[in-house]
Amino acid sequence: MTDNSNKKWQCIECGYIHEGPEPPDVCPECYAPKSAFFEV
Ligand SMILES: [Fe+2]
Repeated sequence: MTDNSNKKWQCIECGYIHEGPEPPDVCPECYAPKSAFFEV
């Protein structure tokens, strides 16, 4: 069974890890845009 609903995304600017189906609109730590997140 595959569950893609809980991916992890890392902010390339500060290293913040976000868990969820997609990255946040802005990083809560450094305010980098969604485009600064890559999937880990
Ligand atoms: Fe960040």
